[in-house]
Amino acid sequence: MATIRKTIAPGEIERQREICARIRARVTADGARPLALVDTYGCQQNEADSEKLRGYLAEMGFGFTSDEFEADVIVVNTCAVREHAEMRVLGNVGALNHTKKARPTQIIAVCGCMVQQEHMAGKIKKSYPIVDLVFGPHELWRFPELLETVMERHRRVFAAEKDDGAVAEGIPLRRDGSVKAWLSIMYGCNNFCTYCIVPYVRGRERSRLPEDVLAEARALVAAGYKDITLLGQNVNSYGKDLGGGVDFADLIRMINDIPGEFLIRFMTSHPRDATEKLFRTMAECEKCARHLHLPVQSGSDRILKRMNRHYDRAKYLAEIETARRYMPDLVVTTDIIVGFPDESEEDFEDTLSLCEEVRFDAMFTFIYSKRVGTPAASMPDPYTREDKQRRFEKLTELANRISAEKHRAYEGKTLRVLVDGETGKEPYNLSSRTNGGRLVHLQGDPALIGSFAEVKITASNTWALYGKLQPAAGGG
Ligand code: SAH
Ligand code: SF4
Ligand code: F3S
Repeated sequence: MATIRKTIAPGEIERQREICARIRARVTADGARPLALVDTYGCQQNEADSEKLRGYLAEMGFGFTSDEFEADVIVVNTCAVREHAEMRVLGNVGALNHTKKARPTQIIAVCGCMVQQEHMAGKIKKSYPIVDLVFGPHELWRFPELLETVMERHRRVFAAEKDDGAVAEGIPLRRDGSVKAWLSIMYGCNNFCTYCIVPYVRGRERSRLPEDVLAEARALVAAGYKDITLLGQNVNSYGKDLGGGVDFADLIRMINDIPGEFLIRFMTSHPRDATEKLFRTMAECEKCARHLHLPVQSGSDRILKRMNRHYDRAKYLAEIETARRYMPDLVVTTDIIVGFPDESEEDFEDTLSLCEEVRFDAMFTFIYSKRVGTPAASMPDPYTREDKQRRFEKLTELANRISAEKHRAYEGKTLRVLVDGETGKEPYNLSSRTNGGRLVHLQGDPALIGSFAEVKITASNTWALYGKLQPAAGGG
């Protein structure tokens, strides 16, 4: 049953921005030029959240630094998806002891998915006294108010209440690049895959209104962005909570209709509800990149069921076949978890054979990590860390071999790429991406950054392609 989608009233965001102005007056008094550092862990959704944190901080008058010792405010935006991510965060927060000692007025905030878990917020409260402010993803919209409380009352503030989450429009954004942009179209997740913490820390699925997404997309195109990635934990659920009849495929088409030369990408599409309509729409929309990231997680039906993924191997393979029928040149990438509780050698073999069958252009592989409070955490598991490590290495080897083979097939071809940055290395000083998202290194004038170019692929390896710029006019 559809629940009422909660929104933060525009007046509330206005109030936050007034607080930004007050903080600005305070921190820039006597001509001071305060600096902030936002350190981001985790997925693109978190990167997008950090752009909001920086947007607020910029309005508060902060400049930005990457040096912890120089920062007046440090915000650590955390991830909880695997234990490794949490350990890194805790290690790095612990190390801020030194910076705070050197700069006792420094304010340290820890936000994001990790601290939305009660036990982690508790751990920080107890064991990390240098942390002044803790807030979960649901409180991000009121970061200015929380920070002002810390500044005025000189006390620690903790705000990570249990919440289904809301949609807040109008938060200022400070984007990282000028070529590629993230565009969140929805927040939260309702899927409750049994291994995953995201639904617990990010709340229920909620979509932004199509008009808000479109306005942001138009502004990005007008500002010269050439590569727009639509973000959601499962973009295929887009619009289900709005009841207005605009689904994800419709949204792609609406963005595709915006005049201009740019690419549309998206992450992530869940195989349970990736539809033929989506693939047809991708094929019909000339601005939609020929790239599908479709996380399969496992090739074993038994494990997929225990993961609560709502599809089986046959359905997944049929989707890939349909997508490739519409787009023969489609780049397909995936995520795979190795060592889910009770995954047998046979189950793992099923994953290997699925990968051989699909031949993914790239695979993001993870060893299962137990997450407190998820159903999988209490599933018995007779396999050892060594078993899992061995399988992980076997899978990585397979992934690398297939990527290298796929990359080799590009050699000799001429492709259109978007030049997106400098590598800092000679002779291939520029980086670029193909329409399908493959990395291409090339040599050229940095003035090309932000433009499309024709490139002949001359060499390749597992991770990248290498190319030579072709003359622009009448390019092949
Ligand atoms: N919403 C996306 C995934 C977000 S998390 C989707 O459903 O596709 C990104 C990836 O992290 C997942 O696809 C999964 O492969 C991996 N992951 C999530 N929880 C994990 C866990 N507990 N242990 C290991 N990997 C995990
Ligand atoms: Fe996690 Fe599954 Fe939701 Fe992805 S769809 S965020 S893996 S619960
Ligand atoms: Fe991590 Fe939260 Fe993203 S747990 S993967 S930062 S949604």
